Order: sequence, then structure tokens, then C-alpha cells
Amino acid sequence: MGFLSDALSRIKPSATIVITQKARDLKAQGRDVISLSVGEPDFDTPDNIKEAAIAAIRRGETKYTPVSGIVPLREAIARKFKRENGLDYKPSQTIVSTGGKHVIYNALLATLNPGDEVIIPAPYWVSYPEMVVLCGGKPVFVDCTMEHNFKLQPEPLERAITPKTKWIILNSPSNPTGAAYSREEMKAITDVLMRHPHVWVLTDDMYEHLTYGDFEFVTPAQVEPGLYDRTLTMNGVSKAYAMTGWRIGYAAGPEHLIKAMDFVQGQQTSGTSAISQWAAVEALDGPQDHLKVFRRAFEERRDLVVSMLNQTKYLKCPMPEGAFYVYPSCAEAIGKTTPSGKVIETDEDFVSELLEAEGVAAVHGSSFGLGPNFRISYATSNAALEDACNRIQRFCGSLR
Ligand SMILES: Cc1ncc(COP(=O)(O)O)c(C=O)c1O
Repeated sequence: MGFLSDALSRIKPSATIVITQKARDLKAQGRDVISLSVGEPDFDTPDNIKEAAIAAIRRGETKYTPVSGIVPLREAIARKFKRENGLDYKPSQTIVSTGGKHVIYNALLATLNPGDEVIIPAPYWVSYPEMVVLCGGKPVFVDCTMEHNFKLQPEPLERAITPKTKWIILNSPSNPTGAAYSREEMKAITDVLMRHPHVWVLTDDMYEHLTYGDFEFVTPAQVEPGLYDRTLTMNGVSKAYAMTGWRIGYAAGPEHLIKAMDFVQGQQTSGTSAISQWAAVEALDGPQDHLKVFRRAFEERRDLVVSMLNQTKYLKCPMPEGAFYVYPSCAEAIGKTTPSGKVIETDEDFVSELLEAEGVAAVHGSSFGLGPNFRISYATSNAALEDACNRIQRFCGSLR
């Protein structure tokens, strides 16, 4: 009898974590490495949020909290959904967990039975399929090609739905592509879902506040109120408030689902950090001025990176609407040879040779379920991005 569980053999390690670690190791050996592989803002948590956490510690808010979160945070979450998304939720329809990832895991653990199918548009955030598998479900992928700007189309979605489909996971703006659905595009998807009343919608709105130009963010239950009773709307403070390390994610949905998630969480982590929850109250209720600053910086970086990549031999880079990722195609580089004689056969070869030759760490598209592409996170300084893009240009220029 083996010591480790069989479940471990069914899941893959996160490619983003593996590559980020490889870049760290090379740096530790003295190599000049620019890491464009991490999915976290380079900004610091705004001061008013830090102060709220310090004040909470001083007030003695250092004990266990209710499993689903402190009442002031659940009330702030209900206000946020009303104010920003026009969605009515009672605080009892909300739950707070240890990051957005934990919210999704709880929802899947609370609902999946063996063989239940979960539709995941590809490219996808690396954790969705693995979480589905860990919870005993079966991921069903629907390819969203570059031709459609990596967005799910109604016909392939309709074809993927079976009597066993329990959930669809939507993510707009997307990690890894940055693609975000306009109201019309989202309506085309929700129209399909309205025809299949047994399918639940898990919408991961983590990057809601990071959209650029005059793009208007929408979420499924807002676009189609008919889906309200079978939608879990997930969000968090990690990305928009530069609070990745505070570990606060939240969701709102039908009360019976939230109760089931509370039940799971009660035998797992219980309530997340009290101090982080008080900080999150300030994040949601306090001034939102920093968002403009973050958005302006990210938009400038997106424009810089897209423009430089599109001037690079063998690469094509679509302009994404949001998040802090671009997802260029390296299809034309496949079959080419590096100066050291290595033939690039896959997007994984492309990123690994790029790291070896020029010290730029990016993540291959096949790990997100669609390639040959690679993901660049532009959550770093303009100078580092310019340097990295110059190196990518030099690398592509050296291929024969
Ligand atoms: C699409 C998406 N959803 C959820 C998360 C998880 O967020 P958190 O750090 O709050 O768990 C991430 C983080 O990378 C993400 O990219």
C-alpha cells in the first residue's frame, strides 16, 4: 500500500509556480533574469487598508471568526455587489474564504459527485481542472481560439453540454489571455445557458477592476437575471487591491449553496484570518482612488508590451481588454532552430529556450490548455518590460 494518495497522481503541478521557481533558481546562481511569470500586482497594498488591519489588531480582533466571515465584511460584500454589479444579495448569501482559489474549491467540493462534468473554456487558469479532478469531477474543455480572441463561442458551448454537466466556469477578464466579454458576448453565452436549466455558473470575476479604455465589465447574473438562482459570483481583493498575501476571496449565490460551502469550510479552515477580514472591509468600503492609478499603469504597460511583441519576428499578440496578461502566439517559431542547434518543437521548448538564452521567464500556453502561445504577466515596471521585450526580439531574431 502506497503512502501518498492516488489523487496526487491525477493532478499536475502548477506550471506558473514551476517556472517562477526555475527563474528564482537561475537568479540565485547569478543569472540576469526577468520574471514575467507571476500573477501578482507589483504594487503595495494601499495604506488605508494596512491601517485598518493595524487598528483591528489593536482593538483585539484577533480571535476566531464565524466560518463564513465577520458580519461587517459580509455586509460590505453585499453592498459591493449592489453598487458595482447591480446584484441584490443578503449578507447570508455571501461567504468569505482564504483567497479566491479557496472559494472555488469549496464550491466544487460541496457540489461535485463522481463523473459530474465541469465545462472549462480553454485557455484556462491552471487551477480549475486540477480542482475539479481533486473533487472527483471531470473537466470538459472547450477550445477558445485566437481567431475569436480566446472567447467562448455559443455553438461549441452548446455542443459541450451533456446531462452530466454540473457547472461551467467563466473567467472574465481572463487569466491567462486578458480577454474580457462585452455585454453582447456575455449575453450570447447566457442565452445558451438559459436553455439548459441544470447547468450552474461559477463566474470568477477576480480581475473585474482591471479593464482598460472604455471597456465595461459585466458579470453573468447581471446580464441575465434568469441565471441568478444558479450562479455563484466569485471575486476577491487579491488583484485589484494588491492584497495577494492577505488571502481573502468571497462569493455570493443562492443561500443553500452558500450554506453547503460554509459546511465544507467549517471542517476545513474555518473562518479566514480576522485581521485580513477587517482589512478587506476597508478595501471594499474605503476610498477606491488607487484603482485609477493601478489601471493607468497597467494599461500603459499592456500597450507597450503588445506593440513591442507585434514588432517581433514570428510572434502575433492580440490586444486584451483586461487583467495583466498577454497571450501571444509563437506558432511561426515552431520548427525553427536556435543558434545552439535546438529545434523548437513546442511552446514549452520556446519558453525554455527563451529563458536559457535571454533570461526571460514566461509560461507556455500548453499548460493553460491552448497553444502554441505563451503568457506574459506585465505586472512589473515599464523598464523591465521594455528590457524583456528587447530580449524576446533578439531571441526570435536569432532563430533560423
Ligand atoms: C483567474 C484567477 N482566479 C482566482 C485566482 C486566485 O486568487 P487568490 O489569490 O485570491 O486565491 C487567481 C490568482 O492567480 C486567478 O488568476
